[in-house]
Amino acid sequence: MRFWPHGVSVLSVDYEGDRMGVTLSSLVSLSLDPPLVGISVGKQASCYELLRHAGAFAVSMLGAEQEEIARKFAAGHPPIVHWQGVAIREGRVAPLIEGGVGWIEARTVAEHDVGDHTFFVGDVLVAERGPSTRALMYRDRDYHGL
Ligand SMILES: Cc1cc2nc3c(=O)[nH]c(=O)nc-3n(C[C@H](O)[C@H](O)[C@H](O)COP(=O)(O)O)c2cc1C
Repeated sequence: MRFWPHGVSVLSVDYEGDRMGVTLSSLVSLSLDPPLVGISVGKQASCYELLRHAGAFAVSMLGAEQEEIARKFAAGHPPIVHWQGVAIREGRVAPLIEGGVGWIEARTVAEHDVGDHTFFVGDVLVAERGPSTRALMYRDRDYHGL
């Protein structure tokens, strides 16, 4: 899978004011009618319990110019460090990172146990296009713009 390119996004969750974000490549479109998306999140991920409690999540799909943000949210920093210096706005269910290709907010409707990850199915509440014309991709442990 290392040689298979993936789009890069940041998953964000907010549960009663506790906010976390994590870099994610597993976002997948599942259905158009109804609109459903899926994400696979490691059970060891620091946001895992928050994500389950929140019952909803947001995904900021990053643009080619946002590599630094992808690296930051993948680094395992404490949440307070993650959000420092990152331009955000309030979404319906969680903070959204400004810029990028677009944003999806979803309510979790199913959780599937998949080994050391859980696959979350989200019913899309909001989908919005962002300003970036080039997406951030990840392949062979490096970032690329497309
Ligand atoms: C490009 C990229 C994509 C990633 N995609 C996922 C993913 O889809 N699901 C996941 O659980 N972790 C994914 N990770 C790992 C997390 O971003 C993060 O590094 C890991 O959860 C450890 O950080 P934490 O201790 O804050 O959870 C990805 C990392 C990178 C660099």
